[in-house]
Amino acid sequence: MRKPLVAGNWKLNGTLASNRQWASAVSPPPSVDVVVCPPAVYLPQMLDVLQGTQVLVGSQDASEHGSGAFTGEIAASMLDELGVNYVIVGHSERRSLFAESDQRVAAKFTAVAQAQLTPILCVGETEEEREAGQTEAVVQRQLSAVFDVADKGLWQNAVIAYEPVWAIGTGRTATPEMAQAVHKTIRDMLTEALGEDSAQQVRLLYGGSVKPDNAKALFEQNDIDGGLVGGASLKAEDFMAIVAAAEE
Ligand code: PGA
Repeated sequence: MRKPLVAGNWKLNGTLASNRQWASAVSPPPSVDVVVCPPAVYLPQMLDVLQGTQVLVGSQDASEHGSGAFTGEIAASMLDELGVNYVIVGHSERRSLFAESDQRVAAKFTAVAQAQLTPILCVGETEEEREAGQTEAVVQRQLSAVFDVADKGLWQNAVIAYEPVWAIGTGRTATPEMAQAVHKTIRDMLTEALGEDSAQQVRLLYGGSVKPDNAKALFEQNDIDGGLVGGASLKAEDFMAIVAAAEE
């Protein structure tokens, strides 16, 4: 009942020429929602070249502010104006390399949802936190910060990506069972905060070294509704293979 979603996060990669080539090689089936998140400067290009296709376009970030003296920032309303549909919020690289706090991530989630865009909220523990048995507590803390400020209505289209930090860009994937266990925990947290019906509607993506050869086993899990794909989204062929793995 939840439509699978596969989102590609290009991070700081791409060129005008390679983006165009990628777009011409990607044609997903209608049974999977597909989103690509290029660097912000390429959003207009990708919206243009993907027009009329099944591929939607997302931003890797957005400001928590609507307008004003915030040099370098991009408002959610500006993304909406362009035709962007999704926004990644609180990616672990933003949290760790750019010092985004849980509260700032929560404010961004709110700003994005209020602009009628779909937030892809990233949560996940570091290796140290997992080894210390803190996975659940970390995810709970990250989610609670958002529950505290974003009321139920803002969760309507929201997506959560569980991305264990130790699996991102490392080639070390969580096993399907490990990932499913955390996804189930997240679903339970959503149920407690939003109620059963709303919790069942939120799509939960797994992220962290998703590849063509491990995607299917991950996506088969009950509470894994697709993936947030970094490195493997850069090659159209690999990305399409991952999308195919999400087809039911
Ligand atoms: P990866 O990145 O697929 O390269 O591990 C995932 C992500 O950071 O979203």
